[in-house]
Amino acid sequence: MKDQVYEFYLVIPLGLEGVALSELQSWVQLDSKAITRSKGGISLLAPLEVGLSLNLVLKVPTRILLRLKKFKCTDFEKLYQKLKKIPWGDYATKGEVQWKISSKTSRLFHKRRLLEVCNKAYTKYRIGQPPRTTQGSEPQAFHVQFYDDICTLSVDTSGEHLFKRGYKTFSTKAPLRENLAAGLLLFSINELPLSPSDLTLIDPLVGSGTFLTEAAGLYKPTNAFRTFSFMHFRLLEKLQLKVLPPTVNKTTFKNFFGFDNSEEAIKACTENIKNFGGSDIQISHRDLLSPPSDTQGLAPSIVITNPPYGERLSKIPSNLLMTSIAEQYHPQAIGLLLPSNTQVKPPSEYKKKSELKIKNGSIDVTFHLFVEKSSF
Ligand SMILES: C[S@@+](CC[C@H](N)C(=O)[O-])C[C@H]1O[C@@H](n2cnc3c(N)ncnc32)[C@H](O)[C@@H]1O
Repeated sequence: MKDQVYEFYLVIPLGLEGVALSELQSWVQLDSKAITRSKGGISLLAPLEVGLSLNLVLKVPTRILLRLKKFKCTDFEKLYQKLKKIPWGDYATKGEVQWKISSKTSRLFHKRRLLEVCNKAYTKYRIGQPPRTTQGSEPQAFHVQFYDDICTLSVDTSGEHLFKRGYKTFSTKAPLRENLAAGLLLFSINELPLSPSDLTLIDPLVGSGTFLTEAAGLYKPTNAFRTFSFMHFRLLEKLQLKVLPPTVNKTTFKNFFGFDNSEEAIKACTENIKNFGGSDIQISHRDLLSPPSDTQGLAPSIVITNPPYGERLSKIPSNLLMTSIAEQYHPQAIGLLLPSNTQVKPPSEYKKKSELKIKNGSIDVTFHLFVEKSSF
């Protein structure tokens, strides 16, 4: 049982599957046949403690599911009989659990009926196996997904979304999700023939500080700030397994600078950085559109930022933004996240290197990566 291989499913934001795959491969050495990439996810075959440990280190996934069973099912009685036999107590310590039910092109699609069957099977199981008295605060959730009459049952190993790292107590207007920021940082690192450890990372529109804290924590475990559902799995005790964070031999940026013209953002960002423990991250008040000041000490640098867009924040025209970044910081590369319908023309000393299309909430956005012509 101990050497058994388990199937995990990493839920990945659309557009970041390639970046997530390279992140996964840098943390764990697995046979390429054990990994399957699909739209919005990565399936993975790995020992239990290895798959669970990915919660502690991966920055791009939204959550990690552990597959428990897959079977064809077209009637409620068969579903009940199958679910009754699941060893729920290996994963859930509570009397009540959450069910995440979905159904597509299947005969069983009535969500309320499906929920009734799940609850009935779980309650029946609990008659012989009462829940433990100790209850973790993490939600304990099972996913029941029907697709073409095939039922896939999984347990959520993460609990809170993985982009909730646990240290961000202060927010600002339109913060970027942590896993999107991490994905864009990793994309930039993968795309540029530069060692990040030689570069200063600058975010001139720093907001709550997401890019900087994500960059500083890119190769560190996140479990110092939060817990995960799998920590209560009784299966780990049964198999006498310990889940330890893997390590990676990679270095992040040399140092980190953030600027913003809002006092409120500076305050929030400073608090978040204090919680995070990022003593090498420096924040100060500066308007990007003010006349350039001396920033020689920051070179060589890369600027990665998401400018204000949409109705909640006043926009800065993209060409003015590019010119101001180039004049203020003279970075070797600039990464900008903009709505996909925005035209952006770099100043003459820069050229487009690559781009990545993702979704930020419901908005289609494109991350544009520009490089300085003289450096590349
Ligand atoms: C979309 S938010 C950045 C969000 C940030 N990435 C985060 O995750 O929290 C844009 C930020 O740009 C700042 N900003 C807008 N115009 C600016 C300017 N001219 N100079 C400096 N900061 C500016 C706003 O105060 C806001 O904090």
